[in-house]
Amino acid sequence: MTLVSPPKSSTGEQKGWERVPRVVCPGSFDPVTNGHLDIIARAAGVYDEVVVAVLINVTKQSLFTVDERVEMLQQVTGQYANVTIDRFHGLLVDFCAANGISAVVKGLRAVSDFEYEMQMAQMNYRMAKVETMFMTANPDYSFLSSSLVKEIARYGGDVSGLVPDLVLGRLRERLAEK
Ligand code: PNS
Repeated sequence: MTLVSPPKSSTGEQKGWERVPRVVCPGSFDPVTNGHLDIIARAAGVYDEVVVAVLINVTKQSLFTVDERVEMLQQVTGQYANVTIDRFHGLLVDFCAANGISAVVKGLRAVSDFEYEMQMAQMNYRMAKVETMFMTANPDYSFLSSSLVKEIARYGGDVSGLVPDLVLGRLRERLAEK
């Protein structure tokens, strides 16, 4: 592996990361939607290795357990040989450091996402010089979120086409139990 030195003309501060082409797509994924999947698939087309990391957040109530979310992600990303699924708690930058990851890939759906995402990106860079690469959401999914999917499904609305079929089945099962 080659260590890259900053170009002589560079005025920007650079960390001199090894250019390990491994990135992380972090999130709650409660549950994974077609919008998430679109970003994961596109990231897998650009980077050598994509780690999808599910946040373990004990303070937030979720519809699916972390194990269930990880398992669903494994199933729906099974066709991408360079995608792996993991979980983390605590700071994302610590997960990155522990796994040799120098960049985060995030999807941006709308301007409303931008402010918070930029804040996190700048903070992650400030804390550990972890970069964030933004991908614009596929317009077919730019209105989509896990929360909306859950709300619509909870009230009997149709979310087919918005989540993978496997997730659709799991959503129906879980909501029927309630
Ligand atoms: O799918 P979400 O819930 O929008 O994902 C948010 C996530 C998990 C990417 C973000 O909350 C996160 O990175 N959490 C880990 C804790 C952390 O590092 N916080 C400081 C961010 S600057």
